[in-house]
Amino acid sequence: MANRIGMAAQLAGQSLRFGWYFTLNRLLDWRSEQLGKGQRYRPSGPVPSLGDLLASQAELLMSDALAVRDGLYPPMGDDATPPLRHLARVGRMFADLPGALSRRAANDAKSVHDEPAAAELPAYYAQDFHFQTGGYLSEGSATLYDIQVETLFMGAAGPMRRAALAPLAEVLSGRDQRRLTLLDVACGTGRFLRQVRLAYPALQLKGLDLSRAYLEEARRHLGELRAIEWIEAAAERMPLGDASVDVVTSIFLFHELPPEIRRAATAEIARVLRPGGLFVFLDSLQLGDKAEWDGLLESFPYRFHEPYYQGYLSDALEPMFEAHGLKPGLTSTPFLAKLMVCHKALPEMN
Ligand SMILES: C[S@@+](CC[C@H](N)C(=O)[O-])C[C@H]1O[C@@H](n2cnc3c(N)ncnc32)[C@H](O)[C@@H]1O
Repeated sequence: MANRIGMAAQLAGQSLRFGWYFTLNRLLDWRSEQLGKGQRYRPSGPVPSLGDLLASQAELLMSDALAVRDGLYPPMGDDATPPLRHLARVGRMFADLPGALSRRAANDAKSVHDEPAAAELPAYYAQDFHFQTGGYLSEGSATLYDIQVETLFMGAAGPMRRAALAPLAEVLSGRDQRRLTLLDVACGTGRFLRQVRLAYPALQLKGLDLSRAYLEEARRHLGELRAIEWIEAAAERMPLGDASVDVVTSIFLFHELPPEIRRAATAEIARVLRPGGLFVFLDSLQLGDKAEWDGLLESFPYRFHEPYYQGYLSDALEPMFEAHGLKPGLTSTPFLAKLMVCHKALPEMN
């Protein structure tokens, strides 16, 4: 009974959330048109209609609610940002739009260079991803990121991330979670870690990211919950011991890495995982995953600065994971995401 109430609460909350972000999405599109800086890219592949997208999103929200009903994890709840702060951030997102559109029109992704930290970070990273003001390095960007992403995905970014919760039960249920560690690589502002913490209160959690500003926003966001270890470091050089982690998750990171860094990060994930451990990967769809949507994927890097996305779209991820001892198992495609669950092999017995 409790789970059915949880499911109903989840569906009601998600419907309201969808309505809000759908409205913001339409308003932002309308404002962009008004500002007249939109360049239209005409993709060669097929593009889904708004109806196709909404139907797929409804499927995602329903499977999230069914997981709540089945007791796999708790409802999403609110996102812990007080309403007035949320509204202030919405206002700032609209205020930031003209600058971001001007940079897009000029193909200029260098506002991040005004941030002092940029000089110490790798060049592939010190760019304005998505044409965000300050790239990933300013406090302003860290506090706008989630509203921007949820507006883009019509409220589905959180539910897509939550699809990565389901496979965790495989390793965690029935075990003493105080003795198990989960590492979220490129945790950003900690939205996924908050969901993990609510589902697994005793688990040892680590969040790693290259952005100090994003880690600070994550710390604020999870403030009242049991402590998490925050690590400011690169995914391709993690300050963690070999075989020291039971579960690694990585969400919306790989499409932002150049191919050689993608491979170095995979090697690091395999190194820090215990044999038998789980790697849960969630990122953008790739070409052919939903072939009738390929045109939408093609156009994405033209609308948002994503310098490595094109290469990501056809990178052979499964062989890459396999080459590092991470055996891909279950794969699914919740809405615009691709979820892949990999196991690190146990040593062979003689
Ligand atoms: C698209 S965001 C995704 C963040 C978060 N996982 C989420 O679901 O919202 C990409 C994140 O990857 C981080 N990042 C990019 N390259 C990185 C690297 N080489 N090492 C660590 N973090 C990195 C960025 O700072 C940013 O927080």
